[in-house]
Amino acid sequence: RKGNFEHFMQKEIHEQPDSLTMTMRGRLIRGGEQKAKGILLGGLKDHLKTIRRSRRILCIGCGTSYNAALAARPVVEELSGIPVTMEIASDLLDRQGPIYREDAAIFVSQSGETADTLQALEYAESDGALCVGITNTVGSAIARGSHCGIHLNAGCEIGVASTKAYTSQIAVIVMLALALGDYSLSTQQRRNAIMDDLYNLPSKVRDVLKLDKDMKELAALLMDEQSLLVFGRGYNYATALECALKVKEVSLMHAEGIVAGEMKNGPLALVDETLLIIVIATRDASLNKQQWKARKGRLIVMCTEGDAEFMCPDRTCRIIEVPKVQDCLQPIINIVSLQLLAYHLTVFRGFNVDQPRNLAKSVTTQ
Ligand code: F6R
Repeated sequence: RKGNFEHFMQKEIHEQPDSLTMTMRGRLIRGGEQKAKGILLGGLKDHLKTIRRSRRILCIGCGTSYNAALAARPVVEELSGIPVTMEIASDLLDRQGPIYREDAAIFVSQSGETADTLQALEYAESDGALCVGITNTVGSAIARGSHCGIHLNAGCEIGVASTKAYTSQIAVIVMLALALGDYSLSTQQRRNAIMDDLYNLPSKVRDVLKLDKDMKELAALLMDEQSLLVFGRGYNYATALECALKVKEVSLMHAEGIVAGEMKNGPLALVDETLLIIVIATRDASLNKQQWKARKGRLIVMCTEGDAEFMCPDRTCRIIEVPKVQDCLQPIINIVSLQLLAYHLTVFRGFNVDQPRNLAKSVTTQ
């Protein structure tokens, strides 16, 4: 079932052009002349109005699913005009955070069975919020327990480390943002640009997968490292968290994802000439605010194709160049190369790729 691949994680990373195509099929509606026309989310059609009227949107999940919602949060806020609050399911439950009838709560879970997310769903439902489920498993507890939802259609994911479900989760939440904002004339151009890039996303992801050999070489160089920091901001704060999560869970190397704006408030103290740092610096509105104070460390910079010279004029850093897409879709492009890096690091370090130590695919206990 692994076909030509050695591991499920590797297969699932390489499947992403197809899984994204499946996620968008029938939902991204094309108009004439290859132009995007609109978004159709069948499972939400009777509920979009209620979500548009909510005072707040809560995005609730665990691990990678939380990171996916975090990646899409800015575009949901931008296109819906509704504030979005992020919640790690267990933390919401620990705090018994307040939830209101005017809230729309979105539960993101690949398996649809994660105990903390499921319990948070029951909690939000009992407080009267509209509950939307985004899962990859038809008939799962979260899919059954929510008022409405969107199925990822990403295909079965077997590797414990989530890869293709992550990129499909981001794509689905971006489509949700487009649907929520589709009454507004002032954002029409922006929405059209995002829809056009969604349409081209599978072929761009195919281009990123061509970096496989480069990522393998980079992993060979990094395999004996003790620790890795990953910095990102704006749309790519989530990419930093997700890269660090993938590296630690499969390759068992210590890794930490940090929002770049926080560097000066503590983490900068760690930086010396030995520290290994990945900086996500693809082009978007936050690029000029990137923290180049990390210069002292050993830098790997992810940048937009053609920006290598500008990012690293003295050629002292290693560069990962990726294709440019609309800012809200860039996290999908950016994570693919980092998934490849985490995969190859794990193989070089001799750990179990598909069954990482102490982890299960579905976390059904609290
Ligand atoms: C990491 C990973 C986990 C899950 C988390 C939630 O690769 O897969 O962090 O994302 O356990 O699982 P789901 O998405 O099934 O709710």
